[in-house]
Amino acid sequence: MDDLGDLRAKYLTAVNESADEASLEALRVAAVGKKGEVALKMRELGKMTPEERQVAGPALNALKDEINAALAAKKVALADAALNARLETEWLDVTLPARGRPAGTIHPISQVTEEVTAIFADMGFAVAEGPQIETDFYNFDALNIPPHHPARQEFDTFYMHRDEADERPPHVLRTHTSPVQIRAMEKTGAPIRVIAPGRVYRSDYDITHTPMFHQVEGLAIGKDISMANLKWVLEEFVRAFFEVENVELRFRASHFPFTEPSAEVDIQCSWDNGQLKVGEGDDWMEILGSGMVHPKVLEAAGVDPNEYQGFAFGVGIDRIAMLKYGIPDLRAFFDSDLRWLRHYGFSALDMPNIHGGLSK
Ligand code: PHE
Repeated sequence: MDDLGDLRAKYLTAVNESADEASLEALRVAAVGKKGEVALKMRELGKMTPEERQVAGPALNALKDEINAALAAKKVALADAALNARLETEWLDVTLPARGRPAGTIHPISQVTEEVTAIFADMGFAVAEGPQIETDFYNFDALNIPPHHPARQEFDTFYMHRDEADERPPHVLRTHTSPVQIRAMEKTGAPIRVIAPGRVYRSDYDITHTPMFHQVEGLAIGKDISMANLKWVLEEFVRAFFEVENVELRFRASHFPFTEPSAEVDIQCSWDNGQLKVGEGDDWMEILGSGMVHPKVLEAAGVDPNEYQGFAFGVGIDRIAMLKYGIPDLRAFFDSDLRWLRHYGFSALDMPNIHGGLSK
């Protein structure tokens, strides 16, 4: 039975040295498969004498079992080795610090728009929207600014191109967010309480003016809404926005065709050494126009002025952003200078809300 000893040594060594499942399977077929070497030996049992068979039979079975066991053990060992190799390459140190602050930041205009929206939402104002390319009707006529009214000149309006033969009035880039008052009232009627933040355009350029800037319109119409409500809402807003108990506001009598009476509101500030500060010094910066909505405006929007009245205001978002965050030159807002954006930008994860704090 020496050849059994040879077979055993041959296969156990081969199993031990095999490097993958495919070669293990080939060994299994060659050794203990139906036509494998062990099976061939078993066939020879028939030619043996009973005595010989009594020795050779159990020996062959034992060899078969032994080779099978070696194959199974090697299979497990190969699987373990494969798993370990994978774990080595997929290794991750969970104690490493998180990645740094992402390079992108929220622009101060977006931040301030969110802050303003949060404050007015808290006072029950919904958000309304309108197009930036407006018809002359919504931008002017419906707001009680008929053609040839001098107020049209004051706005430094950008007119869209129109063929000479075309007699319709040209569209304009909206000069203020006030046309959204009309659109919102047409849509939902009165009573109504909305704000409308967005871009507006005027042909003007200096340290506090850019041809594109941002306003937020406010509109509250009801049965008994008065100028007193307007004053309260604006004072609440300014206090919440600048996160201070006391800010001096100056209500100046003014004139807008779409409000009567009208008031412009200035906020106290100082400009020492190019540093802009709110609530101190003896400079004033105009931040908004406001007033009681003119009956003709209500009428143009389909609201009965004998039944309803209310106030409207338009705040310069860029202006109040400059004041709150001490940004001296408005023009820098729109230069897209990365150094400026990194300095004045806000983390994308700090969304302003009334309870968590507006700005951190
Ligand atoms: N639309 C005015 C402006 O842009 C501001 C304003 C809005 C005034 C609403 C009164 C009422 O100057």
